[in-house]
Amino acid sequence: MTIVADSQTEPDLRHHGDAEVRDRALVDLAVNVRAGTPPRWLREHLAATVAGLAAYPEQTAARAAVAARHGRPVGEVLLTAGAAEAFVLLARVLRPRRAVVVHPQFTEPEAALRDAGHTVGRVVLTSDDGFRLTPGAVPEDADLVVVGNPTNPTSVLHPAAALTALARPGRTLVVDEAFIDTVPGESESLASVRDLPGQVVVLRSLTKTWGLAGLRIGYVLAPAPLVAALGAAQPLWPVSTPALAAAEACSTPAALAEADLAAATGAGQRAHLLRGLAALPGARVHGEPAASFVLVELPGAAEVRLRLRDAGFAVRRGDTFPGLGPDWLRIAVRDEGTTDRFLAALAAVLG
Ligand SMILES: Cc1ncc(COP(=O)(O)O)c(C=O)c1O
Repeated sequence: MTIVADSQTEPDLRHHGDAEVRDRALVDLAVNVRAGTPPRWLREHLAATVAGLAAYPEQTAARAAVAARHGRPVGEVLLTAGAAEAFVLLARVLRPRRAVVVHPQFTEPEAALRDAGHTVGRVVLTSDDGFRLTPGAVPEDADLVVVGNPTNPTSVLHPAAALTALARPGRTLVVDEAFIDTVPGESESLASVRDLPGQVVVLRSLTKTWGLAGLRIGYVLAPAPLVAALGAAQPLWPVSTPALAAAEACSTPAALAEADLAAATGAGQRAHLLRGLAALPGARVHGEPAASFVLVELPGAAEVRLRLRDAGFAVRRGDTFPGLGPDWLRIAVRDEGTTDRFLAALAAVLG
């Protein structure tokens, strides 16, 4: 079942996983940045850029590297201070008559659209469908549609065909692929697809897989006129020199191979977490998780989360995501040892 609703009851759209680990030293299963990152080679590469910080940032090489990585012209690439900046730029530049966000998903796109004065409709995917995008879920007259793939927090990877079916003349389809590099082969990505009707906008982030949340680097892939309009809405020098170096370095074949290996390792670690969760009474995972986190339905999850904190573990609350509520938690995939310690703590909390 899919519910189409104009948002009325307001969860806190501005709550994010980092709030769960800000004040206390807890084992972090709340933020989905890959553990042990940035890798040493990247840290050293970024550190070397510090010597050149007297110069203003120059984007040419980084833009070209990202464009080449996705097989697109340079004019279709906009570098941003994380995918988060892209949501704000889109909200400020686009003039949708009917904007729709597919939930449950990362809440910043909706928050940015609202901040820019737009009315936002919600398409709420439900657990009975495994949070899958069902045909006809999105209203035909929506001229701006925002969807995540794989989706945070459900971890569901929509087939590329389900997304391309949403493309229409006169519609801007925004696909947030912030976590697609946690999927082996980046399967179902639309990053290199350029021949769809309407405007298809793909957002990418380098902050999760590479551990660069504090650096702020991501990018937009979109038709050149839209990239130009979004770029005109950016301030001068929006992306720092170290962030540009990261964009270039993370686009090389060697970096892509490393990310793919991390994705494959993560898939094994996720399977381990899922096996452990399946053995716990009351915990249910809907759909087929595909990303570096898992969404769990657990009666009394809000209380469980607090007791897990007392046991030293931070997990992401689910109640701030439209379509979920106090019985949901999101858990980051970690190495097997960390997961085992977490599962033991969870089992103890559940009694
Ligand atoms: C689904 C999703 N998209 C985008 C972002 C923003 O990422 P960035 O760090 O690149 O701004 C996040 C951050 O948590 C996210 O979860």
